[in-house]
Amino acid sequence: MKIIIAGTGSALPVRSVTNDELAKTVDTSDEWIRSRTGIGARHIAGPEEELDVLGAAAAEQALARAGISAEELGLIIYGTATAGYVTPSAACRVQARIGAVNAVCFDLNAACSGFLYSMYTAESMMRMGRCRYALIIGGDMVTRYLNWEDRSTCVLFGDAAGAAVLAATDAEDAGDILSFSMGSNGSKGAVLSCRTLPEDHYLTMNGQEVFRFAVRTVPACIRDALEKAGAEKEEVKYFILHQANARIIEAAAKRLEMPLDRFPMNLPDTANTSAGTIPVLLDQMNRDGRLQRGDLLVLSGFGGGLTWGAAVLRY
Ligand code: UT7
Repeated sequence: MKIIIAGTGSALPVRSVTNDELAKTVDTSDEWIRSRTGIGARHIAGPEEELDVLGAAAAEQALARAGISAEELGLIIYGTATAGYVTPSAACRVQARIGAVNAVCFDLNAACSGFLYSMYTAESMMRMGRCRYALIIGGDMVTRYLNWEDRSTCVLFGDAAGAAVLAATDAEDAGDILSFSMGSNGSKGAVLSCRTLPEDHYLTMNGQEVFRFAVRTVPACIRDALEKAGAEKEEVKYFILHQANARIIEAAAKRLEMPLDRFPMNLPDTANTSAGTIPVLLDQMNRDGRLQRGDLLVLSGFGGGLTWGAAVLRY
């Protein structure tokens, strides 16, 4: 059995805030943000643009592109750390919006690695024969947990959701998810932390430590996943990495000794949308024709937990 990405979708809040606009209320500048991070603007959700609203919009596009109905889904996993509700889950709320009445639905919190962890979980369940079609969504509303007086964090994040329909198939010429390399290190959880208490709900981060962790871990888990897949890095068409900071992506490319043009970025427009970055970028690339069936792709994310992961797939 093979498991393919049958369709993708994405949704961004309407309001986009540029670095210059942010600099009117925060002690920062477009020059600082751009040169340190590659970020130019971020989308910030309004009160009506809840996580399930964005997730359902992304899901409906992914279903349409996959050519299946919501009733055919057996599983919905929403990778998110900012569901907004203790219960019902964001996945159940998406289910209600799209009418996926036959799906088992739950959220999965692996912070910025949420989409990869969701893919890892769905793939295992599909290989066991639990369902033929699964919807995985990655999305976050980090802006609701930011201290807008802390310039070291508030300039970095935006809101978004992206989705993919995974399909199990026996077709000879189909692609497949070939390997994963995943990990967690809870003993380092404090370097990127956010509680949900009414009096304490701001995200705090040791940026430099996260930076060092990412630059070390991302190339290592990509190498491991490629080895497990029996593939060479030169065969990879695109390395679709978590969009946290352009300098992290540049450092990963350098350590992997691969040209930067194989590392697409959407940081200038959407900033770090946590679990949203990988599926949103995947969908943008799908829509603008950069993804072709048969391409070898690497997806890799890292973030709070700490968590990280890489997947190698034949698109
Ligand atoms: O999904 C995972 C999420 N987290 C990450 O990806 C974080 C990874 N880390 C980073 O991206 C970088 O560490 C940052 C972008 C957060 C910070 O960049 P940096 O090059 O490590 O800067 P820094 O923390 O060393 O700060 C340098 C200076 C400091 O001033 P002094 O002490 O040198 O006077 C900061 O106060 O830059 C100052 N600074 C700012 N200045 C203008 C920090 N934030 C800002 C700001 N605007 N927004």
